[in-house]
Amino acid sequence: MNVSTATLLSTEPAWDGAFVSWFHAPELARGVEPGQFVMVHCSVEGLDPMFARAFSYYRVDGDRFAILYQVVGRGTRWLSEQPTGAVVRMYGPLGKGFRLPDDPGNLLLIGGGVGIAPLVDTAERAVAAGHHVVAMMGARSESHLLSAAAWPKEVEYVVVTEDGSAGAKGYVTQHLGKYQEWASKIYACGPNPMFQALADTLRFNGRRQRPEILMEENMPCGWGMCYGCAIFTKHGVRLCCKDGPRFNLFDVY
Ligand SMILES: Cc1cc2nc3c(=O)[nH]c(=O)nc-3n(C[C@H](O)[C@H](O)[C@H](O)COP(=O)(O)OP(=O)(O)OC[C@H]3O[C@@H](n4cnc5c(N)ncnc54)[C@H](O)[C@@H]3O)c2cc1C
Ligand code: FES
Repeated sequence: MNVSTATLLSTEPAWDGAFVSWFHAPELARGVEPGQFVMVHCSVEGLDPMFARAFSYYRVDGDRFAILYQVVGRGTRWLSEQPTGAVVRMYGPLGKGFRLPDDPGNLLLIGGGVGIAPLVDTAERAVAAGHHVVAMMGARSESHLLSAAAWPKEVEYVVVTEDGSAGAKGYVTQHLGKYQEWASKIYACGPNPMFQALADTLRFNGRRQRPEILMEENMPCGWGMCYGCAIFTKHGVRLCCKDGPRFNLFDVY
């Protein structure tokens, strides 16, 4: 883990109320695994809010990296309002990321809402390693979807919206269809109810895909010091920040 400052290079809207911010910070962009996260101090002096906020690496490119975030509170609002050139304190990369198979396979990536963020970096690495990738995103409506242009051209991108304004109507876990059979490995990130529905859908399909998920809990420190992110798994209590955020779906659900 490195503690560093990052220089804000740009902030662009991703969808309604969500932004992509690119930063220059060689120490924080080095050695990142897909699914790892960075802790961002969303204030000038680090006093209010006091605790840093966790964000997945959305994309990594040399000395630069991007995060994709939904504005939900003070920290994310502050971040979205910073001007280009702002210097932001951060530490990372943190946590255990996804493990991509050694041999080329069919990878199904499933994201719910802003949980799509780490899957773009994952897709870029997977495509570069020769895997076939289908990425599915579930969102409230068309105006909450990540653009197809965000993905490498090799990725098949499938969208599902709750109101049916784009793609199939309903929850993404209701539309796994043929992709569930096709996939040799599944990766997912999103809200807890999505993981529960995913587990209910995949548990008895006999495919042994060993789905990996990225869990999101409140993380005051991000590196195993405060125990604020403890979760119950079938193997006992685990710290989401240090033992995860990657877990096997069926170890938790
Ligand atoms: C490992 C990890 C990776 C994460 N990656 C991302 C990411 O890539 N992009 C991203 O946007 N967020 C991500 N998050 C969530 C992000 O850390 C929180 O959204 C952020 O801490 C909110 O900070 P805030 O100060 O804006 O809101 P706060 O002031 O802390 O919260 C304001 C209100 O929003 C609610 N809230 C907080 N977090 C969320 C949430 N995630 N969804 C809905 N409501 C929430 C709170 O309950 C509160 O009511 C991640 C979290 C973890 C643990
Ligand atoms: S966030 Fe402090 S121990 Fe995990």
